[in-house]
Amino acid sequence: MAAFIIACASSKGGCGKTTLAVAIAGVYASNGSSVLLVDADSRKRLQEEWYNPETLSPKIKVISSRVEDVETDVSKNRDVFDVIIIDVEGSANWALAQALQVAHFSLVPSNVSFQDLKDAQKVYNYVESINKESKRYRHCWIVWNRVPTAIRSKEMKATMDEAVTSGLPILTTIHERDAYKAMFSYQTTLDKLREDEAVPSAGKAEQEIAILISAMHEKLEAQAA
Ligand SMILES: Nc1ncnc2c1ncn2[C@@H]1O[C@H](COP(=O)(O)OP(=O)(O)OP(=O)(O)O)[C@@H](O)[C@H]1O
Ligand SMILES: [Mg+2]
Repeated sequence: MAAFIIACASSKGGCGKTTLAVAIAGVYASNGSSVLLVDADSRKRLQEEWYNPETLSPKIKVISSRVEDVETDVSKNRDVFDVIIIDVEGSANWALAQALQVAHFSLVPSNVSFQDLKDAQKVYNYVESINKESKRYRHCWIVWNRVPTAIRSKEMKATMDEAVTSGLPILTTIHERDAYKAMFSYQTTLDKLREDEAVPSAGKAEQEIAILISAMHEKLEAQAA
């Protein structure tokens, strides 16, 4: 079966695309899926700072893709892997457009601020515009990222309300947790961090990523029905 293609995409820098890509890849791999991460960031952070075949599951592979080659690289691998996750850099470049075009499901991480929400809205509007001109429907959902586990500020609540009022589709919430940062320090995935008891929040992070994955599949099934 052809791969399920996910884009972690936003024109906003630093909103959590790479973190989300790695976290999702880990949960799919620990459930037995083969995963290709396509690093479409010219800084090659995934490839150079995270990917380590000695510490990672053999189910996970990473390739770097040049900005102009994202679509081709995904096509070449779509019959080889169960899941392909594209990580783009935080700018409105060609890689972002191709990732949104080729993905079945785009996840747009957004910190809970009005500025981030505006960028997320632009990405969502772009996907809606390509959907209108195409026979294939592409999902595009916003994921709140780095939400504090404790008290939320008034501004945060106002931003979340604004998203609902403007009809933006929100998939799930990812909290601010050390485990997400630790995946990079240890060049590993959340399941390994949990097993090694390296970071207390790894289990909770893994659970919220599993919820996000279930939510994606529910949306796909609802669309197909
Ligand atoms: N849920 C989270 N909890 C804690 N830290 C997080 C979380 N999400 C992201 N971060 C941290 O925020 C910073 C930016 O995250 P990340 O590199 O994933 O963003 P990005 O969107 O890929 O950035 P860029 O646009 O530069 O590629 C990193 O230091 C990362 O560890
Ligand atoms: Mg990144």
